[in-house]
Amino acid sequence: MDFFNYKDGELYCEGVPAEKIARDVGTPAYVYSKATFLHHYHQIADAFAPLKATICYSIKVCGNIHICRFLAEQGCGFDVTSGGELFRALKAGGDPKKIIYAGVGKTDEEIADGINAGIAAFNLESEAEIENIDRVAASLGKTAIGAIRINPDVDPKTHVKTTTGKKETKFGVDIERARRVFSQYRNLKHLRIAGVHIHIGSPVYEIQPYVQAVEKIVQLIKDLTADGHRIEWFDMGGGFAVNYERPDQALPVTEHARALIPLLKDKPYRLALEPGRYIAGNAGILLTRVLYRKTGGEKKFVIVDAGMNDLIRPTLYEGYHHIWPVKPDAANIPRERSRAFEPADGEIVDVVGPICESGDYLAKGRMLPPTQRGDLLAVFTAGAYGFAMSSNYNNRPRVPEILVDGNEFRIIRRRETLDDLIAAEMV
Ligand code: LLP
Repeated sequence: MDFFNYKDGELYCEGVPAEKIARDVGTPAYVYSKATFLHHYHQIADAFAPLKATICYSIKVCGNIHICRFLAEQGCGFDVTSGGELFRALKAGGDPKKIIYAGVGKTDEEIADGINAGIAAFNLESEAEIENIDRVAASLGKTAIGAIRINPDVDPKTHVKTTTGKKETKFGVDIERARRVFSQYRNLKHLRIAGVHIHIGSPVYEIQPYVQAVEKIVQLIKDLTADGHRIEWFDMGGGFAVNYERPDQALPVTEHARALIPLLKDKPYRLALEPGRYIAGNAGILLTRVLYRKTGGEKKFVIVDAGMNDLIRPTLYEGYHHIWPVKPDAANIPRERSRAFEPADGEIVDVVGPICESGDYLAKGRMLPPTQRGDLLAVFTAGAYGFAMSSNYNNRPRVPEILVDGNEFRIIRRRETLDDLIAAEMV
């Protein structure tokens, strides 16, 4: 569900024609729908309300401070994974008591910043890190709070680069070792370990991996309690999938909640979730213009002004992003945004960017309506891990982020300039 729709023959974001935004701010540009962000945030919060779960938006997904700010105003917490993300969450007005800090390689400085900010918890990824956080907290004369990240060893059936909850990943502690690790560190003076954390992968399209993981952790918490540990919360991580290829591809989060609530209701510990993609994914598009067309052998190429530095998901994960003209001819107005929707007079093309790498593409072998130089294309479901993973590769200034709210839009991150490219080098 989102608020990007074709009306009167052209694509609108909420009440604003996408073409108007492109005319005003140029291309490429990320365009976000505030209503879509809020819709998905509230959908998750409401679905898990029977468990009184704290929702911690995973800031790595799309961390613009203006977006974090309106989510914080709704009571949303944050899942951060670096000192930079912690800084951002706090600057956005995030409540430290709803900030969870994950990541396998936290530096002493980052740990100290988290402790000094009074965050809710560190998600602890290894024995070495546990000992180090205890040491850093001691040097500050404070006590940190932590949850051990457990690998429940379930298969989330997702891309190998985003599978995290199986054995032999760099994340967390294997479930068989969990009781031993809890016991080993039960009497630390400056780190109170009171929670359990999991994150099985991303995106996860099925319910079963969550159910399996939660059942294993519920049992583990029972065992830990029997061992004399006081477990105060269970953080289930993120991973809920979104509709990249067709409107009904991902289950609504209400379905996940329906399966998980019976397993977790009335437990004597609190619950947290760290969704990112589900909140941001369908809330953003990337607008790009066709620069040129060419053929190479039998292949047709549509060369656009956005490249893998702006959206790396197709290159890195073979990620599918639906692409369609912002103003298609009348015969090609999409009835639904689906991979299965065939244009009336389509052609199979590769949509490629200007970067000097053959891996630089947004789509391969894609059936699209005919396009020509100057046409504006929308790359959908680009709100999550889109701008956030963009870079200056090939010395391309990063693109602006635009937030639409009803009939209005504003620039929430300006387009970088050529001077920005060398600013940090002017030492
Ligand atoms: N919590 C932890 C500990 C995580 O590592 C992640 C994502 C999340 C929560 C949020 O997961 P989500 O709800 O967004 O699925 N760049 C890849 C995805 C990498 C996921 C990294 N961790 C992509 O574009 O598909």
